[in-house]
Amino acid sequence: MSTTRTGFSSRLGFVAAAAGSAVGLGNIWKFPYETADNGGGAFFLIYLLCIFLIGFPVMVGEISLGRHTRSNPYGAYLKTGNKNWALVGILGVACGFMILSFYNVIAGWAFGYFLKISFGDLLNEADFGAFFGSYVGQIGELFFFSLAFMAITAFVVMRGVQKGIESAAKILMPVLLAILLGLIIYALTLPGSWEGVEYYLKPDFSKLNLDVINSAMGHAFFSLSLGMGALITYGSYIGKQDNITSSAAIVTVADTGVAFLAGMLLLPLMFAMDLEAAQGPSLIFVVLPKAFAEMGPIVGKVVGGSFFLLVCVAALTSTISLLEVPVSYFVDERKWSRGKSVSVVAAVIFLIGIPSMMSQGFSPALSGGEEGIINYGGKTQDFLTLVADAFSEVSLPLGGLLMSLFVAFRWKTANLSDEISKGNPSYKGSTLEKFINIAISYVCPIILGFIFISNLLEKFFGFSFMH
Ligand code: TRP
Repeated sequence: MSTTRTGFSSRLGFVAAAAGSAVGLGNIWKFPYETADNGGGAFFLIYLLCIFLIGFPVMVGEISLGRHTRSNPYGAYLKTGNKNWALVGILGVACGFMILSFYNVIAGWAFGYFLKISFGDLLNEADFGAFFGSYVGQIGELFFFSLAFMAITAFVVMRGVQKGIESAAKILMPVLLAILLGLIIYALTLPGSWEGVEYYLKPDFSKLNLDVINSAMGHAFFSLSLGMGALITYGSYIGKQDNITSSAAIVTVADTGVAFLAGMLLLPLMFAMDLEAAQGPSLIFVVLPKAFAEMGPIVGKVVGGSFFLLVCVAALTSTISLLEVPVSYFVDERKWSRGKSVSVVAAVIFLIGIPSMMSQGFSPALSGGEEGIINYGGKTQDFLTLVADAFSEVSLPLGGLLMSLFVAFRWKTANLSDEISKGNPSYKGSTLEKFINIAISYVCPIILGFIFISNLLEKFFGFSFMH
């Protein structure tokens, strides 16, 4: 196997990049509110269980497969399986294209807010809801914000694994942590903020039901960047002496830690500022700007600007990993140069993102609602939601399901153990080995199969297990 493939310079480089991939928009706008809304500490316990039972084992599986084959997802399945299994790799590459297409649009919104708060007068708006509606409903500015974000992502990926992805992660992850901690300290000094902490974490087991557990599992999976082979790709760049299980453990803890901390920022801020609860885009683009505006012109600009910088940094290390998957496919399999691969893939993904960009009001046909032409699951939907439903809610659990079955029954757990023990000599015969083998052979396929089917039915056929 070739040893000329350039990779991460050290284990720290890999861990920073993989943690960067994991920590993203999902941690900031989804996790905190999901937790607060679905039983606080009780939800968090379930989330930890999901991370432990399916997140960690699948992550170890992906990294091992990548390092063993030294390939992108397609090549990894082809080398250890056959042409049919390689279709799972193709699905992963396709997910890279499609998920990045809309993720970059949202990252572009955040980038625009960063600029408009720090250098403009966005915080003087009278009605942030109306402002956000018209902001996402035009496409002139958004086109350039998203284009800029894609260009920055492409610039990093173009520089290669070590000089680009690794260096960026080593700078951006500490920056992210510093901004996050700084903002938390500020938020917790505001009067009334501790009620937010209580609301966030107070366990309420009565809120747990199958729907909540299903979304905890799905979110755990998305948040760790699993299911499409992003970690097969990153794993293909690490050294044989690296300890895969401990690296995966650090990445898992880092991702969960940042998600937890994001809640320690958002909920206290919302309570201190007496804001209504919200989630998703309106949480960070409508509710929080109100809080920043109330802080006064200077503090608001600094705190608000830092917050959106944080969101951009979190998104950037994730868009980098999403782009690297298809790029590595064209480099490995089609023998394109990295330069050509990055330029073509980034341009195509940007173009695929344009309908998503137009689907928040600019084009009524693509925006769902009365005039919408996209109809599934019993209602009209906007294009961005369609892409997210198809490629992230449904395809990622499917990819993870097939990956677990592949590792366990085609590549075989004995080979998995061989690969892991290269950087972890005491692995064979350990309890950890038994746990990972059982998890990846039985627990992960069953749970991921359940998430896949229930998301497919719910999103596309309007059927839910709960109501
Ligand atoms: N994990 C990132 C988030 O929480 C998103 C992400 C980046 C991702 N790369 C991925 C999700 C690969 C799935 C697969 O926002």
